[in-house]
Amino acid sequence: KAKTKSAWFCQTCGVESAKWVGKCPSCGEWNSFVEEVVVKSSPSQIIGSNGQGKKNKPQKISEISSSEASRFDTKNEELNRVLGGGLVPGSLILIGGEPGIGKSTLALQIALNLKNYTTLYVSGEESAQQIKLRGNRINSDNENCLIVSETSMENIFSHVKNTSPDIIVIDSIQTLATESIEAGPGSVSQIRECTSQLLRFAKESSTPVILIGHITKDGNLAGPKILEHMVDTVLQFEGDQNHMYRILRSTKNRFGSTSEMGIYEMQHNGLREVSNPSELLLSQDDESLSGVTISASIEGMRPFLIETQALVSSAAYGTPQRSSTGFDLRRLNMLLAVLEKRAGFKLSTKDVFLNIAGGIKVNDPAIDLAVILAVLSSSTDISIPKEVCFSGEIGLSGEIRPVSRIDQRISEAEKLGFKQIFIPKHNSKGLDTSKFKIKIHLVSKVGEVFQTLF
Ligand code: TYD
Ligand code: MG
Repeated sequence: KAKTKSAWFCQTCGVESAKWVGKCPSCGEWNSFVEEVVVKSSPSQIIGSNGQGKKNKPQKISEISSSEASRFDTKNEELNRVLGGGLVPGSLILIGGEPGIGKSTLALQIALNLKNYTTLYVSGEESAQQIKLRGNRINSDNENCLIVSETSMENIFSHVKNTSPDIIVIDSIQTLATESIEAGPGSVSQIRECTSQLLRFAKESSTPVILIGHITKDGNLAGPKILEHMVDTVLQFEGDQNHMYRILRSTKNRFGSTSEMGIYEMQHNGLREVSNPSELLLSQDDESLSGVTISASIEGMRPFLIETQALVSSAAYGTPQRSSTGFDLRRLNMLLAVLEKRAGFKLSTKDVFLNIAGGIKVNDPAIDLAVILAVLSSSTDISIPKEVCFSGEIGLSGEIRPVSRIDQRISEAEKLGFKQIFIPKHNSKGLDTSKFKIKIHLVSKVGEVFQTLF
């Protein structure tokens, strides 16, 4: 006999409490606790289980076949790379993002691209006709892509039984509900129960399941924090509404690195993969402007050429403003202090605005040198030639510190037609400069760069 239980859940972060509380002790949200009736189903009621569950025998590690080769190729290079080389069988993947960013489009495109596999696309948000219309825009057809508009877990499992899909897409986890729980769709206990049923199904049948999740206004995935712990991979789909670029990055990945990112461009016929991000991130005009520099950076495994724009002007009011988009503001302040103290540039009465072009966020410290030079260039109003790029981290004493994988950075700059690159002197050890045509300047202090350029 099923046992009835009720508990209070924070609807923001999913923390459970035995009684009502005004302020969530975990996330600090006020008035977010709602009572949910949790009817725990006895194990025999759970779909796909015969009451005993599937038993696995302990095996010698050497005898376990490795499944690396059997990853599904999603035919989407950007996604494959973010996943760590394709979809792992039996994995549960959560794609989160703001409404309208393109999660449904991405998921449908994946389903339509997997021509040799049966995919079941379950939507709780749109009707089959609406999905068909989106499919028409994407302009790709696939006999093996099945669409169903459904929100009941029990019905979904019966569709799965009838169609035995190779891959399942759920759009979105917040719309699902199982009968074994009384709470409404989107409530913490529903999300948790539905996810755990899908998790069990994925692991037992080795079917990859892609879940789409909404995010709250502060950018976190809606629903219980535990959702992120349950799934194997969490992908964030983000982008600026004003830019057409969309960035897919993993914040958790049991089967790959979390430093990779995939870039897409939203077009009238769906998401286009951007395989050469440098071209997209550099503005196209040939004129050199003051305050603009290019950095040879690396995000994940890929080299990127990133444009940094700085604007330095006299502060109109007492306290100078410092603002930064796409680059850590504290790091900018640190770099400005270094310029002031070590290179003697008076910036304390100036407003400084910094912007990384293309709406991306940069974590690579090698961009420091480009940031400093963009600031200097704007402050002196002397432009830096378009054919020059930079790579180097700045230390507190104004020294230029070595950066990782310098070869790749130089090659990328050369490939994109740059004529000169400034790199840290310490990186010259073991570097065969003769194989590059681009002129390489080895520098150890910011002042040296300044003397060469200005
Ligand atoms: P959608 O995938 O519905 O976003 P989400 O599921 O994350 O809420 O896509 C949202 C936007 O993308 C929508 O405003 C229309 C636009 N779009 C295009 O520009 N081109 C296309 O081919 C498609 C399908 C959508
Ligand atoms: Mg959607």
